[in-house]
Amino acid sequence: MRILIAYLTYSGNTEEIAQHIENKFVQDDGATVDMHEIGIDLVPDLQQYDYIFLGTFTWDYGSTPDEVKDFILEVGYKPESIAIFGSGDTQFGGEEIYCKAVDKLVTFYGSKWDGLKIEQSPRGSQEELIDQWLEGVLEDVYSTA
Ligand SMILES: Cc1cc2nc3c(=O)[nH]c(=O)nc-3n(C[C@H](O)[C@H](O)[C@H](O)COP(=O)(O)O)c2cc1C
Repeated sequence: MRILIAYLTYSGNTEEIAQHIENKFVQDDGATVDMHEIGIDLVPDLQQYDYIFLGTFTWDYGSTPDEVKDFILEVGYKPESIAIFGSGDTQFGGEEIYCKAVDKLVTFYGSKWDGLKIEQSPRGSQEELIDQWLEGVLEDVYSTA
């Protein structure tokens, strides 16, 4: 099974979530996992992957960063099995716009899974949140494999 984890990060928090997800796959399941840093790496052909994980932080009063929008346009279609995760901060306007970009992408792609929202860095207690969320996604992944 081939997995792509694509993410945008400025200060490293979303990257930490991406790396945590990567480690889970590599340690527990032996899947082939490719990492893609949006805005840095050449956009890969998503058709070669069985599952895509797309990560973004939220910006500018609940907005999706332009780099993520460009990535979406360049990909040019909506992959069927795409799970969305992201980092945000409630101090930037409260629950209403907290990790809003995650909600927007879940809706845009019609993702089968709830989006994962992490406040700032996932290090510490929030790692458990990632694990719980991944369990839900993996249940589907391995029941259809
Ligand atoms: C100018 C600015 C605007 C932000 N706006 C939001 C926002 O609207 N909603 C939110 O949840 N987080 C917001 N954040 C917080 C970032 O999403 C958060 O720091 C995130 O962890 C950054 O991810 P990164 O470390 O991967 O770059 C904002 C941060 C900055 C600097």
